[in-house]
Amino acid sequence: MKWIVANTYDAMSRWAADIVLDIVRQNPRAVLGLATGATPIGLYEALVRDKRENGTDYSQITCVNLDEYCGLPETHTQSYAYFMRHHLLDALEIPRAHAFIENGMAEDAMEECRRYDALLDKHPRDIQILGIGSNGHIAFNEPGTSFDKTTHVISLAESTIRDNARFFSSVDEVPTRAFTMGPKSILASKKILILASGSGKAKAVLDTLTGPVTEDVPASCLQTHPDCTLICDEAAAALLPAEWKAGVGV
Ligand code: F6R
Repeated sequence: MKWIVANTYDAMSRWAADIVLDIVRQNPRAVLGLATGATPIGLYEALVRDKRENGTDYSQITCVNLDEYCGLPETHTQSYAYFMRHHLLDALEIPRAHAFIENGMAEDAMEECRRYDALLDKHPRDIQILGIGSNGHIAFNEPGTSFDKTTHVISLAESTIRDNARFFSSVDEVPTRAFTMGPKSILASKKILILASGSGKAKAVLDTLTGPVTEDVPASCLQTHPDCTLICDEAAAALLPAEWKAGVGV
């Protein structure tokens, strides 16, 4: 697993954008696996800026998202479907028919998971963007999730509900369950880019890069992927050994 310590959040976001843009320019039909949350917003802003300045064409790009809250319709401002349209998809003019996310309102959850797994098989990802939870989760795979899981429904950890309460008017409004790609689905992507920003992620970054591969730290499964890069800012790198903080490593 490679890692890059960028000086700032902006530098981390630009670095990530360069990697995504390389893929999009080489293959106009690329499949991008996308994440929500605060962390990738700078990356998405950089892609939108590039589209405005350079006219990069996304008309044939396909996007698949990691996860969606159970019980939120796509019109809800905190649904991940809404987040993606608002922060990226509309500005890049990605056709709605090319953008996929789990249906948080699906009545038959098992059937929805099967549908999403089939969709992922049909659209193999060239790159998967990830954020990381303060507890080491990736997508909504909370500590203890089997690395063999594909798309499934999960009960969110207390710490995740607390962390995500900042996006809702109160903690009671945060959904307690979500659809999520599983670790196995994430590891199927050809390339993986995981972003981490801020001191709240420092312990998760340390465990992901230097700890054992264990289901107690879901992101540690990324150590087993042949082409995964973690990019973080200095605050998120704070607990790494001094020689790891120097910049770029393999
Ligand atoms: C979002 C997702 C989550 C977030 C993680 C970090 O689609 O899958 O794993 O990446 O919770 O969230 P932020 O970036 O808000 O700190």
